[in-house]
Amino acid sequence: MANSRAQPAAPHHIAIVMDGNGRWATRRFLPRVAGHRQGVESLRRCVQACADRGVRVLTVFAFSSENWNRPQEEVSGLMELMALALGREVPRLREDGVRLRFVGERSNLSERIAQGLAKAEQATAGNTRLTLNVCFNYGGRWDIAQAAARLAEEGEAITEASLDRALALSHVPDPDLFIRTGGEQRISNFLLWQSAYSEFYFSDRLWPDFDEAALDEAIGAFAKRERRFGLTSAQLTESPAADQPTA
Ligand code: IPE
Ligand code: IPE
Ligand code: MG
Repeated sequence: MANSRAQPAAPHHIAIVMDGNGRWATRRFLPRVAGHRQGVESLRRCVQACADRGVRVLTVFAFSSENWNRPQEEVSGLMELMALALGREVPRLREDGVRLRFVGERSNLSERIAQGLAKAEQATAGNTRLTLNVCFNYGGRWDIAQAAARLAEEGEAITEASLDRALALSHVPDPDLFIRTGGEQRISNFLLWQSAYSEFYFSDRLWPDFDEAALDEAIGAFAKRERRFGLTSAQLTESPAADQPTA
């Protein structure tokens, strides 16, 4: 495929822990919520960049099950920002062919936010260029537990395949590339099940500073990895014919 940037092929699905907003703000003597506001700008740029590079699914961690334990002022600032961003960003995402999906527990969200999420999903349901999964009030453990509970309730056997289908991200394949910005090298309860064979990439950049060049660096690093999925390196390069039994 022709590509003017001479970039390696983009991964199908990128997942990102958008970390470092608070530190970005603190370094500028700003309130932490100013960092989250800048984080929305960075996400807008990243969505566009992913779509331009042929990424089909982008899954981002916006608010974790544990983030409720932050100071009340920050939590309400984040909720307010979500409500604002929904109003402001959805029309453009809709125009740009982005399908929005929100992944996480909705029962303890305010009515206003819950309705906003549902409306945004409806408004972009027909889009196919890029699926943007926003994990909000999400935890990997929550997801596995809710999936298991649902299967138990329906009297279905718990197998890898049935759990896979019951998980909140069952509408997309597992992430190929898992990026965390902000310098920490941990999962923090993001896609515990789905990242089993993802390639991990840790960037020291704070999320508001994670620009197109940083994304290209991550994609470039991904392109150099050899994904073996439990096989040997030699098996990956063997031609299918080599597997045929010889007469
Ligand atoms: C990530 O940035 C965004 C959320 C968790 C909502 P942080 O707010 O965790 O930023 P740092 O890690 O404190 O810099
Ligand atoms: C993970 O970041 C959650 C989001 C980016 C939304 P945190 O900042 O909450 O993670 P820890 O506390 O550093 O592990
Ligand atoms: Mg953080």
